[in-house]
Amino acid sequence: MKNKNVPRLCVSALAFALAAGAAPADEIAEYMDFFEPLPYLPPIPADNTMTPEKIELGKMLFFEPRISASGVISCATCHNPALGWADRIPRAVGHGGQVGERNTPTVLNSGFLESQFWDGREPDLEGQALGPIQADVEMNMTLAEAIERLKEFDIYHEHFGAAFPDDPDPINQDNVAHAIATFERTLNTPNSPLDRFLRGDMQAMSDSQVEGMKLFVDAGCVACHNGPALTDSNFHRFELPGSTDEGRFVVTGDEMDMFAFRTPTLRNVAVTYPYFNNGSVADLHDAVQLMGQQMLGQDFTDTELDRLVDFMHALTGEMPRVEIPALP
Ligand code: HEC
Ligand code: HEC
Repeated sequence: MKNKNVPRLCVSALAFALAAGAAPADEIAEYMDFFEPLPYLPPIPADNTMTPEKIELGKMLFFEPRISASGVISCATCHNPALGWADRIPRAVGHGGQVGERNTPTVLNSGFLESQFWDGREPDLEGQALGPIQADVEMNMTLAEAIERLKEFDIYHEHFGAAFPDDPDPINQDNVAHAIATFERTLNTPNSPLDRFLRGDMQAMSDSQVEGMKLFVDAGCVACHNGPALTDSNFHRFELPGSTDEGRFVVTGDEMDMFAFRTPTLRNVAVTYPYFNNGSVADLHDAVQLMGQQMLGQDFTDTELDRLVDFMHALTGEMPRVEIPALP
């Protein structure tokens, strides 16, 4: 993210630490400087303001299986609220039981990412939203058909009208994308132990998590996993044994991008297993060890791994409370 070095509440955190008699407070404060608490909302684009009506409509569409060819797959099939808004299987299963190439990333905090998908092929959530409806391995539906299906329901005429009051013919693909993106921007997970710690509650993280945070900085993880969502939204070469996925290269055709993937968010990473672009690593210890080896040329000891993984658990925030909508 752009605002890497935004000054935060370090002064009050420091004061708190000193008052609480916590060990070397200024040393910890220095580490805290590398992190940012997660805001309650990501940046909202000027051309897609957030309104309650749009959020409500976006939520209905997110859970709506009738915009898929089979009539049974919705966004929530793969981005399941009960499974960290992902699917907990290595690679997504979509239309007709087909298995896709890639692991389903969580949509939690996706509004904080500067590009969407493992290869960053879409710049924003508006651009992203229509892809899965049409993808043959996902929902396998033409947009024209999806729009026709929505038009069959009076309640969608009402909801699109309320969400886009200035649009004479509001049930259209742009508005579908805008509404879904607006809903997604509400799916954030603030107040994780790290966030509370950064805001001055020095008891919010265990000693082991604090040690993990220091190691995360000292080892160099923070070079790529930084900003509020712990991603630089940039692309880095990463080769998984047996994988032929060329990653960012498929988008740019630039040799430099061969096998490069966008740094994923580490927010809620403890609940969004399995890991990596093809979901081939199930265990967080193994994922962290592989990162150390490939990205930093470093083997961690078991104690170091435990601390780093403990720190990853401090990144699990409050899950959004979303009531599954009643669909027509
Ligand atoms: C069949 C399973 C499946 C369905 C259905 C599905 N997705 Fe996804 N989603 C995925 C996979 C797999 C990826 C990663 C694809 C890639 O990177 O090439 C993804 C990526 C995303 C991302 C990017 C997140 C990131 O970190 O880059 C968002 C946002 C998203 N999906 C939202 C949606 C929305 C909205 C819908 C419904 C319109 C939807 N998805 C339907 C499996 C699915
Ligand atoms: C050079 C940049 C870079 C560095 C340094 C780095 N990472 Fe990563 N990290 C990435 C990228 C890129 C991915 C996605 C790789 C893939 O799946 O293709 C990733 C993926 C991960 C994942 C899996 C997330 C998921 O949802 O699949 C974890 C966990 C992780 N990193 C933790 C760490 C830790 C801990 C460190 C330090 C030991 C670290 N990373 C260092 C760039 C980096």
